[in-house]
Amino acid sequence: MGNYGPLFLEVKMLLKNLLLPIVLALLLAGLTACERNTDQAAETLTVNQFLNNHWPAVLPPQGKPPDHFSAEEASLDPQACGECHAAQYEQWLTSLHSHTMGAGIQWQLQLMSQQQGNKCLRCHAPLAEQKALVALQQGWPNTPAAAAPAWLPEKLADAGLVCAACHVRRHQRFGPPARAELPEELPHSGFTASQAFQDSRFCAACHQHQEQDKPPRVNGKLQVDTWAQWQASPQAEQGIHCQTCHMPDRQHLWRGIHDADMTRQAIDVKLQLDRLGPDTVNVEATVQNIGAGHHFPTYMVPKVELVFSLRQLDSARERVIHRHIIGWQVNVELTREIFDTRIPAGETQRVGFPLILPDADAAWEITLMLEVTPREHYERTFRRSLQKADKLSELTVSTLRRALREAGATHYRLLEINQPVPGWPIAN
Ligand code: HEC
Ligand code: HEC
Ligand code: HEC
Ligand code: HEC
Ligand code: HEC
Repeated sequence: MGNYGPLFLEVKMLLKNLLLPIVLALLLAGLTACERNTDQAAETLTVNQFLNNHWPAVLPPQGKPPDHFSAEEASLDPQACGECHAAQYEQWLTSLHSHTMGAGIQWQLQLMSQQQGNKCLRCHAPLAEQKALVALQQGWPNTPAAAAPAWLPEKLADAGLVCAACHVRRHQRFGPPARAELPEELPHSGFTASQAFQDSRFCAACHQHQEQDKPPRVNGKLQVDTWAQWQASPQAEQGIHCQTCHMPDRQHLWRGIHDADMTRQAIDVKLQLDRLGPDTVNVEATVQNIGAGHHFPTYMVPKVELVFSLRQLDSARERVIHRHIIGWQVNVELTREIFDTRIPAGETQRVGFPLILPDADAAWEITLMLEVTPREHYERTFRRSLQKADKLSELTVSTLRRALREAGATHYRLLEINQPVPGWPIAN
């Protein structure tokens, strides 16, 4: 019993000398953690609040430009922005964001009511002013009475996702925090900086279907789900945003599956051949999504086909022995999933099969090719629509044909791997 005394004392001493500071330290840590949490919460709120204002379901008109703006400062024309922001303008011109009003959407708008069309324009030509110009172009009923002002050139109808759609509200500029010290006096009354421009949520405005809009689903899956895929990715955990990969060094390039170099960064492909017997080989390809911060590919639209072929060495004869498609295949009516072989970020897909060699003694080679069809789903849709060409106007048919031609021109071979089939070891 007596032993407990000193022990108790020891504990009390510990409490005084050690525990107390520990408790204090913990409390402090807790406090700072709390502080950091509230900081983070405030920050989250600001980005969210900013984005709620910046990307409402329908963008309001810009209104009249400030009187002191020069014609150049007032213009919503990307070319006018390009007078001072040449690099962004040149890059944007090469990006798909400047082609969002191509033939692929134009022929469909020709068949739509204004209300249906405006739903598409929300992402493809989002400015209120663009919608008005498209309405004039399409002969839709609800059009502005007055002629377009000088700061709104007519060509904005076809200009796609213009600078102003992302950067200008009520003729005010918004952008990411400046990279360098800037003078006090800037053109267009300067700009308002927001961290939101460097956040993936900025892109989610168009690259994510929102639950509250009750978007259509196929086999329970959202058609546009890139942001959610990104959120579940290893890259999101490391703080790598859409902009990190798609706008490196703030460049306005937005390369994606249409670009071979970009797509090559997405995957690591390996071909493994194992001789199982005198005339059998096991062929296995692995494709790992190492560099896309979302499914490879993210949407139902692109397809990537693995084509395996067999060739006898020293002979030109080559024969396809296996095909496998990576992608989300959905029927043209968007009601039924046919298969979904997309590869989530970080994951690996194996494609393997045994092969019987036609001649066990000959020397063989296997070739694996990856063929990319960036707009496969649209090509199928366009071809189906052309079957009903007799019900469409001449203009719509020619626009549709152009859309199909343009989609077909985007096909490319991503890579090719050649590997000799290992020989069957001769017993000694
Ligand atoms: C007369 C020249 C001029 C015109 C025209 C112009 N800008 Fe600017 N803008 C500037 C200057 C100078 C700055 C200061 C920072 C810089 O140089 O990027 C700036 C800053 C910006 C920023 C903030 C950059 C950052 O660091 O976040 C954005 C965004 C921007 N402009 C967008 C536009 C858009 C969009 C248009 C066309 C609708 C446009 N500007 C037209 C000269 C111009
Ligand atoms: C939520 C935003 C959003 C809405 C709304 C939207 N799109 Fe798109 N659209 C996209 C994105 C993002 C892409 C690019 C991704 C891809 O390749 O599918 C795209 C690509 C396309 C393409 C392929 C590109 C081309 O020019 O051939 C067509 C065609 C198209 N959309 C038509 C439409 C039509 C028609 C509507 C309205 C019924 C519509 N879109 C509504 C976001 C949207
Ligand atoms: C799809 C939306 C979008 C469009 C369209 C767009 N931008 Fe940007 N812009 C951004 C985002 C996002 C950033 C910030 C990127 C970052 O910080 O990583 C940015 C950054 C900028 C900056 C700051 C660049 C720097 O180096 O600090 C300028 C200036 C700018 N944009 C001008 C333009 C002009 C001019 C156009 C049209 C030719 C344009 N933007 C089109 C989204 C867009
Ligand atoms: C770690 C880099 C990385 C991040 C982060 C990333 N992407 Fe990508 N993205 C790629 C690569 C590489 C491709 C080309 C291969 C592919 O299509 O998956 C691509 C393709 C795309 C495509 C082409 C269409 C398709 O079906 O694949 C779109 C659209 C896209 N990304 C949008 C986004 C958006 C929006 C975000 C943020 C929510 C994002 N990406 C985040 C690397 C990235
Ligand atoms: C206002 C709507 C809108 C916003 C905001 C937007 N995009 Fe897009 N984006 C589109 C549309 C529409 C397309 C389809 C272009 C086409 O093919 O016609 C597209 C195409 C792309 C592509 C090319 C995909 C391919 O098939 O190669 C990439 C990459 C991309 N966007 C990334 C981004 C990133 C990153 C952001 C955020 C900085 C962003 N987008 C913001 C509407 C938007």
